Amino acid sequence: MAVPTKTIWELDPHTLVKHEILNRYLNAWFAILGQSNKHVVYIDGFCGPGRYEGGEEGSPIIALKAALNHRKILEHKKIEFLFIDVDSRRITHLNSELKKIPIPPNFSVKTEINTFDERFRTLLNELEVKGAQSVPIFAFIDPFGFKGIPLELVERLLKNQKTEAFINLSVDAINRWLEHPDEQIPQHIIDAFGTDEVFDIVKKHGKRRESLRLLYQRQLERFAKFVRYFKMENSDKKTIYYLFFATNHPLGHVKMKEAFWKVDTSSGFKFSDATNPYQSVLFEMDETDKLVEILHQHYLHQKISVEKIKSYVEDETPFLETHMRKALKLLENEQKIRADSLKRDGEKRTKGTFPDEVIVTFQIPVSQERVSKPLLF
Ligand SMILES: C[S@@+](CC[C@H](N)C(=O)[O-])C[C@H]1O[C@@H](n2cnc3c(N)ncnc32)[C@H](O)[C@@H]1O
Repeated sequence: MAVPTKTIWELDPHTLVKHEILNRYLNAWFAILGQSNKHVVYIDGFCGPGRYEGGEEGSPIIALKAALNHRKILEHKKIEFLFIDVDSRRITHLNSELKKIPIPPNFSVKTEINTFDERFRTLLNELEVKGAQSVPIFAFIDPFGFKGIPLELVERLLKNQKTEAFINLSVDAINRWLEHPDEQIPQHIIDAFGTDEVFDIVKKHGKRRESLRLLYQRQLERFAKFVRYFKMENSDKKTIYYLFFATNHPLGHVKMKEAFWKVDTSSGFKFSDATNPYQSVLFEMDETDKLVEILHQHYLHQKISVEKIKSYVEDETPFLETHMRKALKLLENEQKIRADSLKRDGEKRTKGTFPDEVIVTFQIPVSQERVSKPLLF
């Protein structure tokens, strides 16, 4: 899609999916953080006009309404919104949209005409001076291309353990501009990736978009404990962009995975989360089967509690606890695991249920055992 030049433009189907993820996540985020923090900050660095041509809501309105849904929990908290856009027409439009929404007195909603880069740098400086780095911040970084999203700023943001970044990485645009002779363009790409290694990708053969994704992921993993992404493909099955989520918060990580999994996939968008290349997950596949394989490989010959398996699944794979429970059930049915027959309270465990304390032994599947044994006759 060409970069829109009008104040408001038509919503494309990818944006609809992006908004659904954002909406689901923010509803969880405000509810969780509102309980334990006095102050919460939401920043939309490339906020747009707040509405699309067909009347659909833009990201600033989605975020504000997600917070309003949890008004009661957030009642005595300071909830700050900062909406930044370089285009004054779009900020004017957003202001007119915001006027239609009653804002509670504990909410501060500001719009600013500025570049994300400049405004965010100043904000981080201010927070560092104030010593307010422990305020939870969610930063949505959603540019049209790749200009003005220096990784250095994301790194500074994520020094605060309570901050999270949700970034649209337009690999389609980056791929097209990777060999551009203009001097400025390569510098924007280097800034976005925080390294000039990005240009080595041109020299290599293979899937460039995938290599760009992998490099960006590695760069984020230098300072974020959890990094996940959602792949947006076009109808030719080419990746247009990745929505990256980076956080240091285990619960935030789980909640974003839940949002990813719940997004409607009938339109053909994929949740292709190949943090580990062996864990590539497509919605078309039976997700439980994939996890069965991962768990079996990871824990073969080990005795381990369900609690530890759960931590592994939640922190290190794209899957959720619900997938784990289904996978363990399947493994037990296939006799690939043996689980304690008694629970902690001494009661008998019902087959197919897996309380946290139960110890599971991953054993060689009978068929494999047969294959690996030398034939005697
Ligand atoms: C993809 S649109 C944002 C859409 C919006 N986040 C949503 O989901 O409804 C990108 C926006 O970034 C603005 N923009 C472009 N360059 C910018 C920059 N350097 N800093 C801030 N905003 C910028 C554009 O005017 C445009 O409104």
